[in-house]
Amino acid sequence: MANRMEPDRAARSPPQWTRSQAAGIERTDETVAPIVYPPDSEIDPDVHLWDTWLLRTRDGSIAEIDGYRVIFSLTAPSDLLPGTRHDVATIRYFYSSDGRNWTCGGPVFPEGTAFGSRQWAGSALYDDDRLFLFYTAAGSRDEDDLSYTQRIAVGAGGRIAADENGVSIAGPFEHEILLEPDGEYYEREDQSRGMIYTFRDPWFFEDPRSGETCLLFEANTPIPDPEGEDRFDADPAALDFNGSVGIAVSPSGDPTDWTLEPPLLEGAGTNQELERPHVVVQDGSYYLFVSSHEHTFAPGITGYDALYGFVANSLRGEYAPLNDSGLVVTNPERAPFQTYSWLAYPHRDEILVSSFFNYYDLQGLSLDDVAYLPPAEQQRRFGGTLAPTLRLAAENAETRILGTLEHGHLPIADEDLPPLLSTFVDDGSGTESGDGYDDGTASH
Ligand code: FRU
Repeated sequence: MANRMEPDRAARSPPQWTRSQAAGIERTDETVAPIVYPPDSEIDPDVHLWDTWLLRTRDGSIAEIDGYRVIFSLTAPSDLLPGTRHDVATIRYFYSSDGRNWTCGGPVFPEGTAFGSRQWAGSALYDDDRLFLFYTAAGSRDEDDLSYTQRIAVGAGGRIAADENGVSIAGPFEHEILLEPDGEYYEREDQSRGMIYTFRDPWFFEDPRSGETCLLFEANTPIPDPEGEDRFDADPAALDFNGSVGIAVSPSGDPTDWTLEPPLLEGAGTNQELERPHVVVQDGSYYLFVSSHEHTFAPGITGYDALYGFVANSLRGEYAPLNDSGLVVTNPERAPFQTYSWLAYPHRDEILVSSFFNYYDLQGLSLDDVAYLPPAEQQRRFGGTLAPTLRLAAENAETRILGTLEHGHLPIADEDLPPLLSTFVDDGSGTESGDGYDDGTASH
């Protein structure tokens, strides 16, 4: 279970994603991805698939299991309405020898063995021939009514092997609750006043500079008395939106032993949900990425469903929003919910960004409106598979979409990418977007 850290580090005041920074969020040529069309074939037509992460080693490299790379995804049976998928989320694994064609290996954990009534996003570490699957335990295992309690858990010690039939994962996994909110750095459920609190999405990271072993996660900052608060540049009502990026460290490097530390970043007064936080280190800069939604911004701020990012010169540095506002990748105005839950990882001098194909062809409907469509229409307009991977350039505090790869194409380190085209393609959204598309997205 989590201990608390020594007091001097606790004195640090986390950098903020302020309202005035976020007020500058605006679609630009550099940040708008091209329109996504349904792929010729889905990764697995039997399941809806959304949040996805790669199996990686301690230093962040993509793990290779006898020539296969492995991803883990939240999944739900595809005959369920997509809006209900979070209530039954199950982590399945998929493997591929070419990073394009994926085979489902099935659920990672036997039914009823993991914590939670369902499991939400996490990360996966392959270390010393052992698999550590960090996940969010949402609710409690045998609850009759779904609750939204979130705890950070691990299934530790599993085995992964490949043979002529592909990749298989075998237990036993030792499940353990690793972290719960402490109520001081991280809001507990009973302290939350606004939208549903968050304490989820653990992401394993070893800092290449210090060697420190870390677990990042999505959380909220406790603000028990908004009227008496002078730490934040926001009026009291906005402070119900209090998302943060949390961090715990493991001084011994043991991936099952964590100590909570103060957040890396707070968005108090700005946004409620800084989802799936993760870091890419490139040219000595620490790029911290989160996903967030249009509807989780505090009143008065117009944001999008998008990948947001911040840069600092060290893991606990003074994060500044990328592109001034924090906006890194978003969907075109006429398809604002087409992708979500982005995951960035380095590839040579680029950053690749994967996400899932979410709701499309909504013709102006909001995500709330979708629930009122006839069931068949809800199904038709939900992608439920991986989206085209984006190629991104980052230089200091600026980023630019360079192009896309195919749906679900996840290259590993030594893979050559197609040359980038030099002409810009107009995708019809009224906003020019990057070049170098190799999947025909611009031709539909
Ligand atoms: C993002 C997310 C994650 C969460 C999961 C639940 O898409 O909200 O934060 O773990 O979805 O399905």
